Amino acid sequence: MERDKTEVAEKIAKDHESIRRYIGALNLSEMTEVDAKEFFDWKLEFIWQLRDFKNRLLKHFDLEEEGGFMEDIVKVAPHLSRKVSGLKVEHDQILMSLDEILFKLKRMKKKNDTELEQVQFELNDVITSLRDHENEENILMQQAYYREFGSPG
Ligand SMILES: [Fe+2]
Repeated sequence: MERDKTEVAEKIAKDHESIRRYIGALNLSEMTEVDAKEFFDWKLEFIWQLRDFKNRLLKHFDLEEEGGFMEDIVKVAPHLSRKVSGLKVEHDQILMSLDEILFKLKRMKKKNDTELEQVQFELNDVITSLRDHENEENILMQQAYYREFGSPG
């Protein structure tokens, strides 16, 4: 049976929304404000939060890569296939950056403001890349689904 294309589009859109909520829940400013005494409690919590976020992203990327979305784009618009490959590469880059951040945090044996500021900066960078990436996907989604099949809403 042919997959329902508007269903794919809706699933991705919903997932993007959920990812945005995850990003909103990450409290980046707390990082440098935390008391040195509470640093290790904070660090463990934050590492767990980042791991959950990474896992959430992995599932989101699975959905995009395996759920028909990227396949449909290439089918409807073959000239976008390089763009789609680029999106997959970006998925890996985003995950790698998160791993690096996790590694840096784990290595930190005491509260170090300079290093934390660096981590904060890098995490902000990942979030910005992720947002740009999602926007890009939304545009492709419009091209692949909405234009051909009409608005699913
Ligand atoms: Fe996405």
